[in-house]
Amino acid sequence: MAEELIITKGDKEETYKTLIPQIKALISGEPDLIANTANVVSALRETFGFFWVGFYFVKEDELVLGPFQGPIACTRIRLGKGVCGTSWEKNETILVPDVDLFPGHIACSSASKSEIVVPIRVNGEVVAILDVDSDKLNDFDAVDQTYLEELALCVSELF
Ligand code: SME
Repeated sequence: MAEELIITKGDKEETYKTLIPQIKALISGEPDLIANTANVVSALRETFGFFWVGFYFVKEDELVLGPFQGPIACTRIRLGKGVCGTSWEKNETILVPDVDLFPGHIACSSASKSEIVVPIRVNGEVVAILDVDSDKLNDFDAVDQTYLEELALCVSELF
C-alpha cells in the first residue's frame, strides 16, 4: 500500500483520474469497512480540501454517521430528511449548488454552502451514502458526480 497520495494539482477531472486508482489500490486487500471508508474520506479531503467529507451507513430505518473528516456532524438522519435522507429515499445522487435553497437541508455547519450526496448500492439497494460539503457555493458539477459515483461503486464492494 502506498503511504502517500500523489496529488495532481490543476484540472479537477485530471485530479480525480489520478486519485481514483490510488484509492482503489489503497482499499484493495483490506477487507475492513471502517478502515477503508476512513481512508477514502481522508484521501478526498486531502486532495480537494473539501469542508466536510463523510459516510453515513443505513442502519435499520436511519442513516448513522460513519467515518468522516471535518467539523462534528449530526449522527442520525431519517429516510427522506435532509439531502442525505433524500438521496437515500430517491436512490440517486443529489447535487445541491446552494444548500439554503434545498428544502429541509440539515445544516450541520453554517459554513457549508454546497453539497453532493452519492448513494452506495448493493444489489440496487442503498447501504450507505457519501456526503461531500463545500464552503463555496456551486462547488460541485457533473465531473464530481461521475468520479464520486465511480468511487461509490468501489466502496460498494466492501459491503
Ligand atoms: N447536510 C446534510 C447533513 C449532513 S452534514 O452536512 C454533514 C443533509 O442535509 O442531509
